[in-house]
Amino acid sequence: MTLTEKDNNYIWHPYTHQKDKVDAIPIVKGKKSYLYDDKGKKYLDAVSSWWVNIHGHGNRFIAKKLYQQAKKLQQVIFTQFTHKPAVTLAEKLLPHLPGSFSKVFYSDNGSTATEVAIKMCIQYWQNKGVTERNKILAFRNAYHGDTFGAMSVSERGIYTYAFRDKLFEVIFIDVPNGNNWDTITGIINSNANEIACFIYEPLLQGAGGMLMHDAHHLQTLLEYVKQKEIICIADEVLTGFYRTGRFFAGDYMSEKADVICLSKALTGGNMALGITACTQNIFDSFVSEDKMATFFHGHSFTANPLACTAALASLELLQKSKCQKKIKIIQNYHKIFCDELKPFETNGIIKNIRQCGTVMAFEIVTQHPDDYLNSIVNDVMNFSLKKGIYLRPMGNTLYIMPPYTTTNKQLLEIYSVISDFLNK
Ligand SMILES: Cc1ncc(COP(=O)(O)O)c(C=O)c1O
Repeated sequence: MTLTEKDNNYIWHPYTHQKDKVDAIPIVKGKKSYLYDDKGKKYLDAVSSWWVNIHGHGNRFIAKKLYQQAKKLQQVIFTQFTHKPAVTLAEKLLPHLPGSFSKVFYSDNGSTATEVAIKMCIQYWQNKGVTERNKILAFRNAYHGDTFGAMSVSERGIYTYAFRDKLFEVIFIDVPNGNNWDTITGIINSNANEIACFIYEPLLQGAGGMLMHDAHHLQTLLEYVKQKEIICIADEVLTGFYRTGRFFAGDYMSEKADVICLSKALTGGNMALGITACTQNIFDSFVSEDKMATFFHGHSFTANPLACTAALASLELLQKSKCQKKIKIIQNYHKIFCDELKPFETNGIIKNIRQCGTVMAFEIVTQHPDDYLNSIVNDVMNFSLKKGIYLRPMGNTLYIMPPYTTTNKQLLEIYSVISDFLNK
């Protein structure tokens, strides 16, 4: 049996419609921005393998660090024990985070990072004896993960539809745009004393359709929400590590979050790791004589030493001038391509061209609704795969989020394949 046949026999792939699925492509190797299949064909990974591989694939520096760590300690229960990679990562990362964060709680992925954040905030108020503050405020079109808590604070849509009856109630508001302030504040005001926390993806709502919003309006909302003593959770699982052009999206605003969630690019796409960092004030509410004030949350692989090592190595690479220069180049190139796409917008072929840092997106105009199930997705993927570019549109939303290893020439290749598709 070939690998593909075995895959079809044994494997269930995520986010994949099973009835009309095509064979998954066996990937045997990754190098910088390329993935190589078993027949030697290479694919330019224009989406950083679900937004994680900022340093591309097969990074030798990170691999070496991982190998050295694996020989020493690859896993240890993180209750009574600690280790250098976990402590050093917290020590090195905390000063860079956008806010006054003082404690790091480790988990495994983006969904667990947001679950931890929500649970932390709900219990914060309970630990303080404030029982009425137990509601959560979130943005429409949000996506915070696929576990139940994370789904509950996400948009009620295609991703959550089958579970709609099982999700807890959340107060949803629109992203502020300068015209909807009264509606937003009205909703917040009528629930203010019952809201425990507000969770938001700053500047860029990724899985909701690469929707972008303005830092200025978000800043105003954060100021307002904080006046009401609502805890602010920045979900920077996607936006962290220079995706928006700055280290964190929170760096665009002077009003800071109390809790921040990180994952995805945290380890440079080498190991699964989640971080939820909080302020001293939040942590202090868990320091009590009362044993019930304990945060009863943990995962088998909490603070896995290999994952923490990969994150430290990734952080080191990220701060190098070569990487910083590349991030700027990607932004500039995207900006030029956005301008070049304008005639397609004028001709009604695409709409909503937008850019946030190293991410750019637009919608392809079709006869079908603008959503994740729009069938244009297969046309785009098949077309680009044939040309050696891996793009994974969300419905008719086409976006580019390349690894920071992508060369100028490779960026132009991605753009040219997209233009060719639109010219078809
Ligand atoms: C903003 C945000 N939060 C949370 C998640 C969930 O992360 P994971 O897929 O690692 O569970 C995602 C994933 O796309 C995300 O974009």
